[in-house]
Amino acid sequence: MNSPVRFYPPYPRFMKRGKGSRIWDVDEKEYLDFLLAYGPLILGHSPERVVKRVAETIEMGTLFGAPTEQEVQFGELLSRSSSLDMIRLVNTGTEATMHAIRLAKHFTNRKKVLKINGGYHGTHTFNFTSDITESVEFNSIDAIKKILSGKEFACLIIEPVMGNIGVINPEPGYLEEVREVTEETGTLMIVDEVITGYRTGFFPFYARKKLAPDLVTFAKIVGGGLPLAVYGGREEIMKEVRPSGTFPQAGTYSGNPVSAAAGLETLKILSEKDYSHLKDLTDLAVKLLSESGLTVNSQTGMLSVFFTEGPVRNASDAQRTRKELYFSLFERALRSGIYIAPSFDETIFISFAHNNEEVEKAFQFISEEARKIWKGS
Ligand SMILES: Cc1ncc(COP(=O)(O)O)c(C=O)c1O
Repeated sequence: MNSPVRFYPPYPRFMKRGKGSRIWDVDEKEYLDFLLAYGPLILGHSPERVVKRVAETIEMGTLFGAPTEQEVQFGELLSRSSSLDMIRLVNTGTEATMHAIRLAKHFTNRKKVLKINGGYHGTHTFNFTSDITESVEFNSIDAIKKILSGKEFACLIIEPVMGNIGVINPEPGYLEEVREVTEETGTLMIVDEVITGYRTGFFPFYARKKLAPDLVTFAKIVGGGLPLAVYGGREEIMKEVRPSGTFPQAGTYSGNPVSAAAGLETLKILSEKDYSHLKDLTDLAVKLLSESGLTVNSQTGMLSVFFTEGPVRNASDAQRTRKELYFSLFERALRSGIYIAPSFDETIFISFAHNNEEVEKAFQFISEEARKIWKGS
């Protein structure tokens, strides 16, 4: 296994090809795909315009170790639509968050990092609690106020909608208060938009909340299915990055022209999309799934079902979910040709390539099976 989340017992299906909302395994069994490679494929598999653009770019060469036009065009479109002063392209969400945190430590000259319990930012050391990294519960402003009052933390890194412990929404006013407290205590606010960026609309989630974070990270959707990620933010901080400043960060593959071409074409297509359609598809899935009697959390294009009673507003609530029951649901869905996340803490995604009938058929089935599993437990 090249990423542990892909494993499920007794062994995972090996996939061969994908088109639109569907994928086929090596035995040619077809699945309606609601995993979508853990989030990037908001246009579905192999969208024609993106495939064509990638093919044309590869013909010209794969890497030059020099700047290319695509990366500038991609950068301009991304920074304009996300209102960022300066950005730096890297390859994965792990890299983007790691360097954003390193940069925050460099800029503030502080050592500690605050994260949210259950938040995931990749498998670098700052993601795990230690004598450097501490965590607080999501949706609790008092916990953040208390821990930041000592002014020891370089940054707080936060997913604006949690997506790695199931979907958990910020309560009204929470993110705005987080912004206030971080500003008051000189703590940089890093908003991790690796999942949420360009998912709920053609903008990052923080723009919906009219927030101006200090630093931001993107990956998944912005790479159009190829490895591409971004960190960026306020000019005062970003100009510290070499070559303009003294903060060391480099990468052989950074701004790879093929990835930049895929990302650019994907963002262009998304800029023309009507996201209310994706919201309608999601609302339909949520309505059907809620009929199971279980807790369902959602945002446009992403949702989760929790095998637990009561609201899920932080990681401790989410951990109460009966994980083995979710896995039974996954197995039943897989057998009937519906591909969802194998673990409760990963998000179920919907794309622009899905249609009403597909969503209705899949989520009616999932809801009925979830109800049976829950009642029989
Ligand atoms: C919110 C968030 N941040 C960072 C990452 C790490 O991204 P990558 O897997 O591209 O390294 C992920 C991956 O799922 C994520 O969901």
